Amino acid sequence: MSSIAKFGVVTVSDRASRGEYEDRGGPAVVDYLSDVVHSEFEAIAKVISDDVELIEQTLIELCDQEHCCLIITTGGTGPARRDVTPESTQAVCQKMLPGFGEAMRQVSLTKVPTAILSRQTAGIRLSDHGGCLIVNLPGSPKAIAECLDAVFAAIPYCIDLIDGPYIETNSERIVAFRPKKK
Ligand code: MTE
Repeated sequence: MSSIAKFGVVTVSDRASRGEYEDRGGPAVVDYLSDVVHSEFEAIAKVISDDVELIEQTLIELCDQEHCCLIITTGGTGPARRDVTPESTQAVCQKMLPGFGEAMRQVSLTKVPTAILSRQTAGIRLSDHGGCLIVNLPGSPKAIAECLDAVFAAIPYCIDLIDGPYIETNSERIVAFRPKKK
């Protein structure tokens, strides 16, 4: 595995993908990662429509061809007809990690009652070269730091467990938790 981590950042939004408004979610995720991740990484950002096949294809490409060890999606987690990001995530993952969605909703509910409307989840896609953790966030730019702060301490160890690169965090922001070896 190369030592430089690759992170995918996928904005899922019909309107942003058509250029009807500026994508603020994707840049907010990249800013968050730049703030919190101390080790070297490369971010690959995409803005796509709320289309199941396109979301699945984008996630597969970022995992299998680009070898991302982490993909953060933003948008498409709600109850509306076109919101299909969690389904697309589940379709490309072999293992789901429902605790991520539970923890993020729990924190978000202290900020906004409509947090309960997000079906955000997380899962692992395994391929020949290693694994990729995919984490869904809601589309609201405000939700990004709120949600990632609730789960990021567990992300470096999760990436260790799927044979990814060693991720170091900026401990003034987030202390990565790695259980002691037995
Ligand atoms: N979570 C946080 N932390 N902050 C928010 O503003 N918005 C909620 C919810 N979760 C929100 C949040 C709202 S209004 C909706 S509809 C759902 O996320 C789904 O949003 P999405 O479809 O853009 O993913």
